[in-house]
Amino acid sequence: MDITKIISSLRISPSHTAPLYLQLANGLAAKIQNFTLAKGTKLPPERELAKLLKVSRTTTINAYRLLEKRGLVITKVGSGTYVNDLSLTNQQQPTMSWEQLFTPQYKSPLSSILRTIIATPTTDQTISLAAGMPDPAFYPLTIIEETLASNKYPLESADYGYIPTEGYLPLKHSLAKWQSQLGIHATPDQFLIVSGSQQGLYLIVKAFIEPRDYVIVESPTYLGAIQSLEASGARILTLPSSDNLNLELLEDYLIRYRPKLLYTIPTFQNPTGRVMSLQDRQELIRLAARYRLVIVEDDPYSLLYYTHKPPASLKSLDTYGGVIHMSTFSKTLFPGLRTGWVTAAQPVINRLAQEKQHMDLHSNNLSQIILNTFLEKDYLSEHLSFVRSEYKKRRNAMVHALQRYCNDYMNFNIPEGGFYIWCTINSPISTTDLTRRAAAVGVSFVPGIAFYTNGTHSNEIRLCFVTHDEDLLKEGIRRIGRILSSDTANDSQPLQAAGLPII
Ligand SMILES: Cc1ncc(COP(=O)(O)O)c(C=O)c1O
Repeated sequence: MDITKIISSLRISPSHTAPLYLQLANGLAAKIQNFTLAKGTKLPPERELAKLLKVSRTTTINAYRLLEKRGLVITKVGSGTYVNDLSLTNQQQPTMSWEQLFTPQYKSPLSSILRTIIATPTTDQTISLAAGMPDPAFYPLTIIEETLASNKYPLESADYGYIPTEGYLPLKHSLAKWQSQLGIHATPDQFLIVSGSQQGLYLIVKAFIEPRDYVIVESPTYLGAIQSLEASGARILTLPSSDNLNLELLEDYLIRYRPKLLYTIPTFQNPTGRVMSLQDRQELIRLAARYRLVIVEDDPYSLLYYTHKPPASLKSLDTYGGVIHMSTFSKTLFPGLRTGWVTAAQPVINRLAQEKQHMDLHSNNLSQIILNTFLEKDYLSEHLSFVRSEYKKRRNAMVHALQRYCNDYMNFNIPEGGFYIWCTINSPISTTDLTRRAAAVGVSFVPGIAFYTNGTHSNEIRLCFVTHDEDLLKEGIRRIGRILSSDTANDSQPLQAAGLPII
């Protein structure tokens, strides 16, 4: 390497606006970073460099100082200046103050608590009772493959281009027909196809909520809703989730706070599995109509019933047009489809569609085409009857295992549908501790704290019973029971970071 030649090739000029020392330092930095000057190369002494480039010695001293500060060279006393080993330093990249550039963000105390305590191993061996996810073994993949086989269901090339933000029109027609069988009578233009109901929720929050607006949620409730609402700066009022809706408290909130909306999961609630009674639904609609309260009805689980059909949806009872209904294929088919829908009055759909357009133009066409086939050919009904009978067996298996292994340490409900059993722990062990210790023996679930806005409850856990077969469910509960029954077991194993969202 002819160092004199490399150095002489540097372009340094007094007529340039940048000071000479900076031009020299940047020129050398570029040669070091592109490895023209290799690590360990001895650079010319300052005086020699000054002579070579016809600049002052102060210029070369300042240039070397700056390079040293950036970690690109090191000075060995009595020996000289050498190119540093870049792999040993991370200072070669200019540092960006990213945090100062981001918009202000609401940081929930929950997110850090959750990161620490819900972190569970996601290895193949883990028995996951945590994520609300259907069993992948039940995904109807053959039907999907057939749907995509173009000789069976020919698609127009236009089907692969951009489509209206509101969604694939044939799917909206099929959904309108499907939902009318469920008592929700809406025209296709009262539908918005979204990328999962989580996106529907985000769009609703974006369209309705300004910082400091009041909203009402059940407590506990779906974590994704808490996070979206908190991120918007809304002030959250809570209605205890119980077998009877507290209509007096709700009316009190309506009078005192004029909330923008009520978010509710009336059927097989996440996380409690509760069902709002028909009478409560009717009274809620009467009260909401009187105050013109917007109700956001999140309804992902109502088709997954294991005893009898749940009461009619709030949307089907809606007398004043104020209910925004959301549902999704994530729980009935599978979450990777990322397809859900919102049914609401047309002005609401128009506004949500505007928000969605800013975000992603429209949801994925292929999923929508596949799902339309599911509805048109009535595969969905077939699939639902199958999963209902399978999930019922799994619910029963988990209930029996809880009765056998955990009865002395917890109370739990027996849900009539949905995905979850909500357990209240009676033993002195904290759910944080229980979560850690269960993770150490390969079982994961969600501690109840995740579903509260104030983060104070600590004696509940949510167990999902649909993802694994009966034997694994039983084994998972047996391990939880062993932790609860042992006074001495103590876990100090570190937790791995969770790879899945807590849903
Ligand atoms: C009540 C509720 N709403 C919304 C979602 C999110 O559904 P999606 O996958 O359609 O975004 C979930 C997922 O667990 C849920 O339980």
